[in-house]
Amino acid sequence: MKFFSANLSNLRELYINQLQMLLSTERQIIHAIPKMIEKAGDLQIKQALQSHLQETEVQVRRLEEILRQTTGEAEMVKCKALAALVEEAENMIQDASDESVRDAAIIAAIQRIEHYEIATYGAVRHFAQILGESTPAQLLDQTIKEEGHADHLLSSIADRVNPYAQKAA
Ligand SMILES: [Fe+2]
Repeated sequence: MKFFSANLSNLRELYINQLQMLLSTERQIIHAIPKMIEKAGDLQIKQALQSHLQETEVQVRRLEEILRQTTGEAEMVKCKALAALVEEAENMIQDASDESVRDAAIIAAIQRIEHYEIATYGAVRHFAQILGESTPAQLLDQTIKEEGHADHLLSSIADRVNPYAQKAA
């Protein structure tokens, strides 16, 4: 992606707006994960979600720090996509009466959220690089790695809790 210098102030606005939206994304995740931990039957899922919850708290602080250094305050813009993903997740979990199906629904829901985050953070990291914001770009990169790790961990748990899928693969 190449930008002419005249467009950089506009790109900066988009960058800040997306950081503010990511702050809302992460805060909604902090609110949603404990309910999923409660509903999960598998211990490894509970542990993976618990450690991702702690990671998410650090990710919120990272975003707040970037926003404070960029704009002087950590304002938030509501992320409607995450609100919809959480609502969809809650429906999937509610509809699954069987425990292992419920666990599969929880993994599917969290992985969907992780992929949304990876895509969004990837774009915002790119904006930071174009704007010469190297420290924020590094901090955002750290978060992307954590989201990727959480996604892979859930894939390996899914292989174990759903042995049929493993045999079929
Ligand atoms: Fe996150």
